[in-house]
Amino acid sequence: MNLLRGKTILLTGGSRGIGAETAYKLAGEGAILLVTYQRNRKMAQDLCKKCHDLGAERAEEIELNLGNNKSIEMCAEFIKSNYGHLNVLINNAGVIVWKRLRDQTFDEIEYQIRTNLEGTLKLTKLLLPYIRETIISIGSGAGYMGDPELAPYCATKWGIRGFTKALALDEKSLRIVSVHPGMTKTDMTGYRGVPPQDVADIILRTAKGEFGKSSGDDVNIFEML
Ligand SMILES: NC(=O)c1ccc[n+]([C@@H]2O[C@H](COP(=O)([O-])OP(=O)(O)OC[C@H]3O[C@@H](n4cnc5c(N)ncnc54)[C@H](OP(=O)(O)O)[C@@H]3O)[C@@H](O)[C@H]2O)c1
Repeated sequence: MNLLRGKTILLTGGSRGIGAETAYKLAGEGAILLVTYQRNRKMAQDLCKKCHDLGAERAEEIELNLGNNKSIEMCAEFIKSNYGHLNVLINNAGVIVWKRLRDQTFDEIEYQIRTNLEGTLKLTKLLLPYIRETIISIGSGAGYMGDPELAPYCATKWGIRGFTKALALDEKSLRIVSVHPGMTKTDMTGYRGVPPQDVADIILRTAKGEFGKSSGDDVNIFEML
């Protein structure tokens, strides 16, 4: 049985990296895919075309800047007016700055907290009335430990785990989990780490309800690959 066929799924940060590979996997399941990008519109458009070829019932790109309230509101409004519901929200978009805290500017600290945490919470809040089944937020192995030169990033990823666990207690009709990759070969890491396709496969299986996780739980990819 194909659990995701015809399901409407919003995937943030789908234009490249782990998000793009996840989009391809979801497309293969026949989902209706809404993929957000911030700057790389052309990449998102090309990705949507490929998703269609791979079997997506529909694939559409949406502009979203998680650091901008208006952009978050417009994205949520677009989904409400054009689709009326979401079966699955995948909060994947994220950014990183590799520097010791003493060398990070206020702008760099805000950029990470606003994108990875604040914007993700605001978008989820606006979409909650329309989500029917599942919320998956992409955290990180950095949400379990402290990594050098990543103090603000680690703070945001520990935050994603707390957010997931608390929200699961408030929204009992939904399955809300966070998924934690380790170092993965994308732009974010200078292309070091495990293949993003392998990470995407575990995100897909999480969306299908594999691994027997309860709402609020973590899927620790960094221990699996
Ligand atoms: N790579 C790793 O080793 C690793 C490990 C653990 C966890 N993660 C997490 O996995 C997720 C995906 O990471 P990745 O490595 O695939 O990153 P990536 O290749 O750098 O891609 C980042 C994605 O986020 C989007 N984005 C950036 N800033 C945004 C903003 N302000 N608002 C909305 N979207 C924005 C980008 O859109 P544009 O293309 O339009 O710029 C892009 O689609 C992140 O949450 C990251 O923290 C990654």
